[in-house]
Amino acid sequence: MNMGVASLKNLNLDIDALEKIFSDHSISTITDKDGTIIYANQKFCEISKYSEDELLGENHRLLKSDEHSPDFYAKLWDTISDGKIWNGEIKNRAKDGSYYWVKTTITPLFDFNHNVQNYIALRTDITKEKEIQQNLEKMEAKLLSQNENLLSMVEQKSNELVKSARLATIGTMASRVAHDLKNPLTILQTYADMLTPEIITKLNSKDREKWFRMQTSISDMNRIIEDVLEFARTSEIKKTPSSLLRILKLALNHVDYSYGIVINLPDDDVSINCDPRKLEGVFSNLLDNAVHAINGHGEIDVSISFDSEFTKIQIKDSGPGISDENLKKIFEPMFTTKTTGTGLGLVICKSIIEQHGGSISVSNKPTTFTLALPR
Ligand SMILES: Nc1ncnc2c1ncn2[C@@H]1O[C@H](COP(=O)(O)OP(=O)(O)O)[C@@H](O)[C@H]1O
Ligand SMILES: [Mg+2]
Repeated sequence: MNMGVASLKNLNLDIDALEKIFSDHSISTITDKDGTIIYANQKFCEISKYSEDELLGENHRLLKSDEHSPDFYAKLWDTISDGKIWNGEIKNRAKDGSYYWVKTTITPLFDFNHNVQNYIALRTDITKEKEIQQNLEKMEAKLLSQNENLLSMVEQKSNELVKSARLATIGTMASRVAHDLKNPLTILQTYADMLTPEIITKLNSKDREKWFRMQTSISDMNRIIEDVLEFARTSEIKKTPSSLLRILKLALNHVDYSYGIVINLPDDDVSINCDPRKLEGVFSNLLDNAVHAINGHGEIDVSISFDSEFTKIQIKDSGPGISDENLKKIFEPMFTTKTTGTGLGLVICKSIIEQHGGSISVSNKPTTFTLALPR
């Protein structure tokens, strides 16, 4: 016998006194070896909201909640039916459907042959602690997911920054190169233009072909240089009321197109508040793209419409259109499907139109670019 029990014995407490002491502290029950309740104290009745009469003769299953797995209960029973003490936390269901958590110790009591005869269960109410713990866990999960969101946002933002910084560097480098190429190119153009029509007709067909290819190469290079310089330029726009038809006609001067292509401009003119030189660049880019797409034969229609806020200008071409996959990328810098393309044209268009407070969009079948400019 250990010292604690010996001193308890010296106190000469009777069973009633002991029961009261336990009852004041613990939520306790005694069951037979099958789990049928044969004793439940006042505290147990209070927390489970069943009366003593309702509890006696019932199995502990009465209080079972859905919280724990069958495996949890199997292990509990394995432990106590093997004569060992079980300690753990259990969530139970009270008579009114509410739940409570109890920290529980179940101790087997033996008969003279050392067979388990009864179980005595002592419990403490830990519902509040559990609630706090669960709230903490919820908060932790929330914080974790917020943290993850933040991390992915930071990653995305820094990717964008790296991308735009890289683009800016490329832009500066490219514009320097483009600038340096301008003079030699002008010299080439001058020499090529010195060949008068008489001289050209005297050339044999092979040499004439070479001269023609030189001319197109020069104009390709000019276009690339213009794109790069325009991309690197970030001048402010200067809005003045301007004739749309005039801008469109000026833009057409920069567009090379063969006789097989018909370009229909709107019949009526309209005045729009814009930076005419910038808008001329936008239209020559869009018309150049359309001409390129048509590839020799077809039509381009430019039309105007209005709503209360915007002047809408549509450029529609009879070309083959843009694949769904490419449609997502055409406004990205350096996306091009052309051998001598820069992939900067539409980026420049978009930025100019947005500087005007407008928007640019595209739809297929037929390929239509729509500009909306504030009225
Ligand atoms: N009207 C159009 N029809 C078909 N594809 C087009 C049209 N306009 C633009 N595109 C596609 O968008 C790409 C990007 O155009 P852009 O930014 O002007 O650069 P680039 O003309 O140098 O290729 C083109 O390479 C082409 O694939
Ligand atoms: Mg282009």
